[in-house]
Amino acid sequence: MDRIITVAIIGCGGRGLGAFGKPMQTKFRDRFHVVAICDINPAMLANAREALMLPEDSCFLSEDVFFEAKRAELLVIGTQDQDHVRMVLKGLQLGYDIMVEKPISSSREECAKLLTAQRESGRRVFVGHVLRYAPAFVKADELLQSGVIGQLISINGTEQVWYGHFAHSYVRGSWRRSEDSTPMILAKSCHDLDLIQHYARARCVSVSSVGSLRWFKAENAPEGAAKRCTECKYMETCPYSAKRLYIDRMKNRPDYIFSSIIVRPKKLTLETAWEAIRTGPYGRCVYFCDNDVVDNQQCLMRFENGVTAVFDMNAFTGNGGRLLTLHGSLGEIIINETEDYLRIKRYGVEEPQDIALSSLDSSGSGHGGGDEGIVRGLYDMLTGKIAEVSSLEESLESHLIGIAAEESRLRGGETVMVH
Ligand SMILES: NC(=O)c1ccc[n+]([C@@H]2O[C@H](COP(=O)([O-])OP(=O)(O)OC[C@H]3O[C@@H](n4cnc5c(N)ncnc54)[C@H](O)[C@@H]3O)[C@@H](O)[C@H]2O)c1
Repeated sequence: MDRIITVAIIGCGGRGLGAFGKPMQTKFRDRFHVVAICDINPAMLANAREALMLPEDSCFLSEDVFFEAKRAELLVIGTQDQDHVRMVLKGLQLGYDIMVEKPISSSREECAKLLTAQRESGRRVFVGHVLRYAPAFVKADELLQSGVIGQLISINGTEQVWYGHFAHSYVRGSWRRSEDSTPMILAKSCHDLDLIQHYARARCVSVSSVGSLRWFKAENAPEGAAKRCTECKYMETCPYSAKRLYIDRMKNRPDYIFSSIIVRPKKLTLETAWEAIRTGPYGRCVYFCDNDVVDNQQCLMRFENGVTAVFDMNAFTGNGGRLLTLHGSLGEIIINETEDYLRIKRYGVEEPQDIALSSLDSSGSGHGGGDEGIVRGLYDMLTGKIAEVSSLEESLESHLIGIAAEESRLRGGETVMVH
């Protein structure tokens, strides 16, 4: 590689450390070198310090001290949703190029402010829209651009949020309240809106959206349910039981990812997992949490070039993964993550052509290879080898669709102009 890019990371959790820090310091150490980290949680900081092998004076517990100086060329922001705007602004002031996790913001004003600050600084800001770097979605775009399905007419996307994932993140976990994170359509589905926006190749004109928190509330609790799964008579039968979701799933997978998260930064063992569900937030009954984000939401979109799109985010599914169809004048491209295929159907041609999604990604990294793809892409973009992919400007465009969708949902599905 031509040169090594130095990196500072703020927020050393699943994304900051797991998706960026660790691969940068190991597999991609010929491209990146992490030289400074910050996390307000002492145990998370200590864990990251050890994993990245950093000296003590490169590790910061205080955000203020960390931002007293520019500590590297690239700043990775892996803190929670509500921190992103503040930290991007501080990073730009110091002259960093920035990689900020999604979502950026749920406010139109903040989006505009960020774009102005980024333009004035002359620095680059990339957003963690990892699917834009995932081989399956890149392949679909290449096929679309090759003209194999003719002209794009409409897009149909479904995000199946596996019921256990929904209960973990959006009922019991960090993204359960839109005020503390962002509305669900941005927190989970800004990836989908970003892909739809990208494939449409035009600005979105208007959105209409409906959706609600239908199920995960007290009135739907089964008769006599306890506030905590370990004390509940439905512990062995309720599909959302923390015992079934975290403890039972460790039988075949002792390092099960969702169980690891609930004990963090402790090591995952059966004892630590039981302790977490007996005493921590992930052992709460899904009907008695303080969640308010929707568990189902549907959006209709119209783009300037006539392309239309429909998108459905749904928590009531035994499958995880995305389903996406690009409907063209001469055929369709279908991505089915559940059944692991990308299908090209051309009208008037008998046999569809199937490509296994797993055959497109050799990295095995999260988000269908997008997690590794974005690390590679960052290097290539920062060194000028490829054009910018998930730039702030482009990413804000799809955020504006999400913001308009939420405005529409709150107004009962009224059509809302995106700009
Ligand atoms: N791109 C994706 O596909 C994807 C996937 C999951 C999460 N995310 C987003 O990434 C972000 C991080 O998610 P995560 O799962 O890594 O969360 P996490 O909770 O695992 O990590 C966040 C870390 O930030 C630290 N932190 C909080 N406030 C801080 C502050 N002021 N200064 C320094 N450190 C601070 C916390 O202690 C924690 O260690 C979120 O915005 C989330 O929405 C993106």
